[in-house]
Amino acid sequence: MTRLLIADLMKSEGERDAVLLQGWVRTRRDSKTFFFLEVNDGSCLKSMQVVVNETAEGYSDSKGVTTGSSVSVKGRLVRSQGKGQMWEIQADSLELVGGADETFPLQKKRHSNEYLREIAHLRPRTNLFGAVFRIRSKLAFAIHRFFNDRQFFYVHTPIVTASDCEGAGELFRVSTLDPKNPPLNEEGEVDFKEDFFGRAAYLTVSGQLEGETYATALGNIYTFGPTFRAENSHTSRHASEFWMIEPEMAFCDLAADMDLAEEFVKSVIAEVMETCEEDLSLFFNFVDKELKQRLEFVLSRPFQRVTYTEAVEILLASGKKFDNRVEWGVNLQSEHERYLTEEHFKSPVTVYDYPKNLKPFYMRANDDGKTVAAMDVLVPGIGEIVGGSQREERLELLLENMKAHGISEEDYWWYVDLRKYGSVPHAGFGLGFERLLMFITGVANIRDVIPYPRVPGHAEF
Ligand code: 4AD
Repeated sequence: MTRLLIADLMKSEGERDAVLLQGWVRTRRDSKTFFFLEVNDGSCLKSMQVVVNETAEGYSDSKGVTTGSSVSVKGRLVRSQGKGQMWEIQADSLELVGGADETFPLQKKRHSNEYLREIAHLRPRTNLFGAVFRIRSKLAFAIHRFFNDRQFFYVHTPIVTASDCEGAGELFRVSTLDPKNPPLNEEGEVDFKEDFFGRAAYLTVSGQLEGETYATALGNIYTFGPTFRAENSHTSRHASEFWMIEPEMAFCDLAADMDLAEEFVKSVIAEVMETCEEDLSLFFNFVDKELKQRLEFVLSRPFQRVTYTEAVEILLASGKKFDNRVEWGVNLQSEHERYLTEEHFKSPVTVYDYPKNLKPFYMRANDDGKTVAAMDVLVPGIGEIVGGSQREERLELLLENMKAHGISEEDYWWYVDLRKYGSVPHAGFGLGFERLLMFITGVANIRDVIPYPRVPGHAEF
């Protein structure tokens, strides 16, 4: 007998015999001569009701079949007499696969998300987290489909790297040196030449620089992998390990880059709304009552576009008291981004042409001498979800920028080479996978959309 999934059984068109269901017991309700089980197998939000009569094999020694235990049920799929479900299983036999005693922490009651983070190994067995992680999987698939359909190639950029793409110094070191007794050089500093890779190495903050090398060979590429930031941010939108999607396109400027970012965000949201209807209904009904409307609104309208300079003017004219100062040349803070997208435009906004002093070395200088061809997409409820730019493809200007940012030409010789050999205008962006998932589900904390969140002070599991 092959195992059938609840997701498929729920779509059944008629009653069927010889069904094998395997999953975990959510609840058990006992009557005199029979009991009901709610069994969930993870394939969908719905659990299957199983009716176990005293005539069923295994009935007499079913005491251990309790909340949290795993079971294997053989029986018949029949129309349910009960309310709330169309199908149920009349068990012919019930087997306890693995018991769970009364210490199982997910007894039938609502638990706070904070508590569930402490048992992150068990939380996917709840309705909310089961739904989050099924949607996460579907969203990843939608992303690959989006790029594959447009002839982008998927490139695996390295996770261990010697370069600091964003130049922010938020790097986790990768080292096998003995911390108690590291080798020292003549200056008395740790000698990383003796380290595993023969040089200082780190976990990547972005696959962009390596991505650029492949875009200038394969044309359009994207990366989709884990990235790491040793940034001491204690917010609901920052994680130390998160996944990023980074497309990079040869023969492309900032305008086309912004177009792609918008089309991408809309397309994957639309696909998830189509393929995850049941799971999303949980978020629409119980997490954020305005979520459905917000997603539909985002799909139906063009994103607004303003330059950084216009954004600053809007903020200054708003009459709002912000905690952080608004001034041309100063970074927009989360409160400013949220004002723009939530209050002023009430829609996603792409802000572009940022002051060059705020941005990394690789961004393309605009003719005004003050700004670079950078863009950020801001969305309501989250703020920045995408950051991207056109890259500096002119050798002289790139070298100047590197100098200004204190970046050694020697270390980045391969990146500079791209500007020497067949350089082309090119552009790309990075989208934070978890931030997009937060936007789609309305889940307010990044710790609740990644299986095992890594944030300052926490690396349990
Ligand atoms: O703006 P960022 O730092 O851009 C880059 O890393 C570029 N190299 C991307 C590129 O052009 N290829 O990060 C891009 C996105 C942000 O917009 C945000 O969505 C997400 O990555 N992000 C984070 N998500 C969760 N936790 C963090 N600490 C994040 N930092 C950035």
